[in-house]
Amino acid sequence: KKEAVEREKRLVESKKAQVLRARKDAQNLLNQANKELEKLESENPEFIEENSPTKRVGGDITKKFGTIVHEYPMLSLSNTYSEEEIIDWEKRINKLSPTPPTYVCELKYDGVAIGIRYEGGKLKQAVTRGDGTKGEDVTTNVRTIRTIPLSLKGEYPDKFEIRGEIFFPLTNFNRLNDQKAELGEELYANPRNTASGTLKLQNSAIVAERGLDCYLYGVYGERLAAKSHSSAVKSAGDWGFKIPDEGKKMISKCSNIDEIMSFIAYWDKQRSNLPFEIDGIVIKVDDYIQQEDLGFTSKSPRWAIAYKFKAEQVETKLNEVTYQVGRTGAITPVANLEPVLLAQTTVKRASLHNADQIAKLDLHQGDSVYVEKGGEIIPKIVGVNLARRDKDAEQIEFIHNCPECNTELVRKEGEVQHYCPNFIGCAPQIKGRIEHYISRKAMDIDGLGPETIDLLFKQGLIENYADLYELTFHDIVELERMADKSANNAIKSIKESKNIPFESVLFALGIRYVGETVAKKLAKHFKHIDALIQADNDELIGVDEIGEKIAQSIRQFFESETNRIIVERLKTYGVNLEVVIEEDASDILTDKTFVISGVFEKVSRKELKELIEKNGGKNTGSISAKTNFLVAGDNMGPAKLAKATDLGVTIISEDEFLAMLNL
Ligand code: IVH
Repeated sequence: KKEAVEREKRLVESKKAQVLRARKDAQNLLNQANKELEKLESENPEFIEENSPTKRVGGDITKKFGTIVHEYPMLSLSNTYSEEEIIDWEKRINKLSPTPPTYVCELKYDGVAIGIRYEGGKLKQAVTRGDGTKGEDVTTNVRTIRTIPLSLKGEYPDKFEIRGEIFFPLTNFNRLNDQKAELGEELYANPRNTASGTLKLQNSAIVAERGLDCYLYGVYGERLAAKSHSSAVKSAGDWGFKIPDEGKKMISKCSNIDEIMSFIAYWDKQRSNLPFEIDGIVIKVDDYIQQEDLGFTSKSPRWAIAYKFKAEQVETKLNEVTYQVGRTGAITPVANLEPVLLAQTTVKRASLHNADQIAKLDLHQGDSVYVEKGGEIIPKIVGVNLARRDKDAEQIEFIHNCPECNTELVRKEGEVQHYCPNFIGCAPQIKGRIEHYISRKAMDIDGLGPETIDLLFKQGLIENYADLYELTFHDIVELERMADKSANNAIKSIKESKNIPFESVLFALGIRYVGETVAKKLAKHFKHIDALIQADNDELIGVDEIGEKIAQSIRQFFESETNRIIVERLKTYGVNLEVVIEEDASDILTDKTFVISGVFEKVSRKELKELIEKNGGKNTGSISAKTNFLVAGDNMGPAKLAKATDLGVTIISEDEFLAMLNL
């Protein structure tokens, strides 16, 4: 018997190995074919198609997303948290319909709505919901989502729009946040907002890497064969779209309110096992004619309603309130809780935001509190179970002194946050400023996580970010758990940070209220750190988007001698403290729009594009009446040439283009 079991086990193992091998082979073949296609496309750019499989890996940059008016307005759903209202809605629909309607229950995916147009079976355009009437053209980014077909199969309508929800699968979202945690960066708050942000990234290669996904929930068009919503969804599946799995009860036809309610009850329990987030259930009348008869209100269809799940809530004990000190000295109170399971994760801590929040909740020591997972990753306390409060429990009083350096805290008029004013001597502020300085969006220094910063600080090797430039390979390699390779990497990365543009350095300095955008404006206006240091209040306020509060904070920063010495030191190390004008940049091509086509002899297509941008011109992909020049290389497609001639676009050769720039 034992032998038989062993044999069976070996058989399963060998089958598994066989599948894994075949999968690997398939992936290799696919990679090889893609590489081949990439090579051929780069050699023969005139034959590149917008929907080529190579577009899946992204790489195209969208500088500004165009605005597109929706052919069919993108309405929202009326929604409710109340089961009674669902019962009332169903009664109303039943009364209004001459024959009893069939309903379709679906998941309400918690992501971003998207409308995708197909023509002749090819993906043409993908547009966000926007204000419902017009949205943003995010086609380049949507092309990288592998579950959205670029070309359709089977028998599809010639022209139609399909709508669905783009979302962040939880494993991919968690992976992204793990990477952020490793870099010591602030985590993304939730999958929905991150999906929305990702869809609007300029670099489609990053979108491809993040791994968004999409479920479809509606087909719109003039001549659709389907007579009902459920059959339209089914057909969309045949054309290659990802549609909800009926077998897994992700979509279900219901003929009465009891079936609807049991669908809701099932998913209210099961939703935490899904690999993505849903925030409710959508109930739709299935038949298109019945839908049409029921019609719309100004905002939403009468034939559909969304039932929203209540946020999951649990009760647990407040053990202690502790206080965190941020890099700006801001004090954040944190509730330390008796660990409790909430929506698949164990919750031990909840943010209390500030003193007002503690007062509002009237928190007492050892209170039994209600914790809820809202849209944010860190759960929040929404209330106190007064029935369980000990009558002698003391009220929680906000601290008066910094928990790290004991300096008396300050709270400015009109502000909600308490601050530790010991800018120079408070350890978490010092370390926080260095961590901010090296972060990706600032100086982008690799290889130094928060633990390494902590060790370097403890050993007295760094007290501020200027000290980073004095570190040697030996200083770093001798730290705990540090290998030669990582130490080398860190030193190299510190050195490379000297080339980071001035605007990022300004952001890295960590001046309160000077975020990325403000830093950009300041860099553009002042061009040199000395000009910024010398600027008075009036001059600062004169800069676009800089108000009193920011101006005051900048003044305060540079009035500190310590800060001025640090900045002087950065200067001596060679950190970029002025705007560097690229040697070969000019504004010769300002207001000129270019299309480049074909293969070139002296410069690559990429170099050509860079030259156009560096000199103030604009690159576009296709010829229109707005195109000023078509730079024509060898093997240019005849259609492009004809269109350019038709529209009277000036056609120039590679040499003529280079001559424009005196090259
Ligand atoms: S049907 C006329 N079905 O929920 C509106 N919407 O406010 C048709 N959503 O922004 C929408 N899952 O993006 C529909 N299964 C589903 C959905 C769904 C998520 C989103 C949709 C819209 C919002 C409705």
